[in-house]
Amino acid sequence: TTGGSDGAKRRAGESAAALVEPGMTVGLGTGSTAAHAIRRLGERVADGLDIEGVPTSFDSRQRARDAGIPLRALEDVDTIDLAIDGADQVADFALVKGGGAAHAREKLVDTAAERFVVVVDSSKQADVLSHPVPVEVLPVAHSVVAGTVRDAGGEPSLRRADRKDGPVVTDNGNLVLDCEFGDIAEPTALARTLSEMPGVVEHGLFVGSADEVHVGTDSGVRVLER
Ligand code: A5P
Repeated sequence: TTGGSDGAKRRAGESAAALVEPGMTVGLGTGSTAAHAIRRLGERVADGLDIEGVPTSFDSRQRARDAGIPLRALEDVDTIDLAIDGADQVADFALVKGGGAAHAREKLVDTAAERFVVVVDSSKQADVLSHPVPVEVLPVAHSVVAGTVRDAGGEPSLRRADRKDGPVVTDNGNLVLDCEFGDIAEPTALARTLSEMPGVVEHGLFVGSADEVHVGTDSGVRVLER
């Protein structure tokens, strides 16, 4: 959980949940803002909305189950009509994600979706991306990738768990390097550089996938369309 007020997150999440129509297969994002969308979708399902959800993490699966949303496993899905997901920072429809270490599955689901709606509060908006980029790596690769990231101008740090001695282990059994690059003037180029590093499973720069951003504020929601 990062960012601004819970009310602003709730308004963004509920605004995106209102876009869902009967019969849709819906990508369910991870994090505290997407959680509001999942909760609202659960209410709509209880009122008779017929949808299937595709979770992006252990956590979003649990939330969706609790909310009563019928689920489909990612490997059984052909089409995702709409994905709703949060972000750690947004600048001009480019995102940094992965604060919850869920970005590998999130990127699969969000990019596969016909329409990807980002839900954030206004504290996540920036002119230029500067948030550290989470990079999921094969466990055996973390020191090699850390060196490659340094060569590319970044400062990596292995994400450590809060309530465990040791690293965060992702839903996929991998580790995460949070990589500080300062201002990211060219997200597309950095995204390519990170993707090409051997040992990298997926990174948290999302470029070219977001179609809409719903920005929750203290009084309402601002919708940005690409
Ligand atoms: C999960 O790994 C992330 O990509 C989340 O989507 C992101 O961290 C946003 O979470 P919050 O809505 O809790 O800030």
